Amino acid sequence: MTTVKWVLSVLFLQTSLTGIVMSGNVLVWPVEYSHWMNQKCIVEELVNRGHSVTVLIHTATQSINYNQTARYHFEVFDVPFTKQSAVDILDQFIFFSIYESSSSSFIQAFLTIKKILHIATAQQMQVCDGVFLNKDLLDKLKRSQFDVILSDPMTPCAELIAERLELPFIYTLRFSFASTMERLCGQLPAPPSFVPAITLQYTDRMTFVERLSNLLFYVINDLFFYEWTYSYWDSYYSEVTGRPTTFCESMGKADMWLIRTYWDFEYPRPFLPNFQFVGGLHCRPAKPLPEDLEKVVQSSGDHGIVVFSLGSMVKNLTREKANLIASALGQIPQTVLWRYSGEKPETLAPNTRVYDWIPQNDLLGHPKTKAFITHGGTNGIYEAIYHGIPMIGIPLFGDQPDNMVHMEVKGAAVVLNVNQMKTQDLVDALNNVIQNKTYKENAMRLSRIHHDQPMKPLDRAVFWIEFVMRHKGAKHLRPEAHNLTWYQYHCLDVIGLLLAFVIALLFIIVKSCSFCFRKCCKRSERKRKKE
Ligand SMILES: *[C@@H]1O[C@H](CO)[C@@H](O)[C@H](O)[C@H]1NC(C)=O
Ligand SMILES: *[C@@H]1O[C@H](CO)[C@@H](O)[C@H](O)[C@H]1NC(C)=O
Ligand SMILES: *[C@@H]1O[C@H](CO)[C@@H](O)[C@H](O)[C@H]1NC(C)=O
Ligand SMILES: *[C@@H]1O[C@H](CO)[C@@H](O)[C@H](O)[C@H]1NC(C)=O
Repeated sequence: MTTVKWVLSVLFLQTSLTGIVMSGNVLVWPVEYSHWMNQKCIVEELVNRGHSVTVLIHTATQSINYNQTARYHFEVFDVPFTKQSAVDILDQFIFFSIYESSSSSFIQAFLTIKKILHIATAQQMQVCDGVFLNKDLLDKLKRSQFDVILSDPMTPCAELIAERLELPFIYTLRFSFASTMERLCGQLPAPPSFVPAITLQYTDRMTFVERLSNLLFYVINDLFFYEWTYSYWDSYYSEVTGRPTTFCESMGKADMWLIRTYWDFEYPRPFLPNFQFVGGLHCRPAKPLPEDLEKVVQSSGDHGIVVFSLGSMVKNLTREKANLIASALGQIPQTVLWRYSGEKPETLAPNTRVYDWIPQNDLLGHPKTKAFITHGGTNGIYEAIYHGIPMIGIPLFGDQPDNMVHMEVKGAAVVLNVNQMKTQDLVDALNNVIQNKTYKENAMRLSRIHHDQPMKPLDRAVFWIEFVMRHKGAKHLRPEAHNLTWYQYHCLDVIGLLLAFVIALLFIIVKSCSFCFRKCCKRSERKRKKE
């Protein structure tokens, strides 16, 4: 009898704690390429746990194959541009970043980026129109009764869908330039004295001059961000919501921010209760390699292998760069597995194998792997951290140079400059990282930190999504800073009042002193006259 009671009460406790949302209904607003690779892991895990997931995607998507059968549902809507035009803009940006940005002036770079951003933003607005001008789609979404929206703020408008459907929403984000979105819209504190702006490539230990440029970099990025949202998105958001609002205000309503880094990678910094750090959620133990690949790896003997990839966005390099790299790879005793879809370089040596695609995670987890040559994307870095593999960084654009500085400072990587490096630099870097034990030791130390967490990153991400579904939001974690003006936030009004008090007090003291002084003087003068 007591056993039955006990079992019943345990069952009751279980269902009352976790059973409110046994199977939720999640709407996903994805971002392309590595962002989607990361979001997809969360989606898969949500499905594993019995939730139903719908990915809202447009017909010009560059990296999401919505025709394939998946365990989740695709809701596809039309946009008036083609996949190729989206790819072209991205290629323009990448080509500029890799080959031209270093030789162009600040003004030139600014104008080029602004031009590309203008076209990309116009395209993104067409994506948003694809949803908000499509009444059937909106009705269908409304009827689907979702519990939460999962989005990446790199493509706007999920906030508007959330508002229209009256749903809580959760961000997954790696970074925005100088953390403008996280700071200005999410209220994440970032004291410029010890939190280096993302993409500036500083560490948390800054000299006076570095702190100065760090502060200025924040300010410039803030101005640029406000200019960009003001001239493009604020009016769009006001129009769709039917009341005056801003892009940033809408972003600030996010219930949870899942940031794709962790303290194995980040410098220690202050954060808010609705910010969770889930870096490396896509990492998993290595699976056995396909037979032919395993043969190649085994044939490397005691020297082992080097894995080389520049990520999913950069398919090819210029002929000159590819030749430079290939001839360096030929000078090391290891076997190199290179993910590269460009034309085969003439200087390719017999120890180097080129593949269109490689199972990167499984290769990095292979016991024969000695080093990883990477462009420094966060996904790849996290796979290297997970498996404890030291890195040679050839960062290309975006957050990549900054990411590699983190790994270099932690002693797990050597970084090269893609524009200035010579063949010998790459050979030296490879030999250094493979032969000098400190790099491997540091990579292993980061790996141990990464694995020693109370909850795996993917479990933590899914926990908070389920949490938001169970409680219909997480507004109790949202700081009141969102409701303050900038002068209230910095207590300038309070400081002003206190200053006024101090000044008034000083005034009174000075006045009364001079009054007393004059009195005293007069009395002594009178005395003197009498004498
Ligand atoms: C999906 O299928 C449709 C129609 O069969 C086709 O037009 C479209 O290009 C396909 N999209 C992708 C991403 O494969
Ligand atoms: C990469 O290949 C594409 C198509 O083959 C070509 O248009 C582009 O110029 C190449 N990029 C570089 C950097 O060579
Ligand atoms: C190994 O690398 C570390 C860090 O760069 C350096 O301090 C050390 O002198 C190197 N050791 C050897 C034997 O080269
Ligand atoms: C703060 O803002 C939120 C929404 O923006 C609102 O619901 C809440 O009432 C505000 N709190 C105060 C104290 O104004």
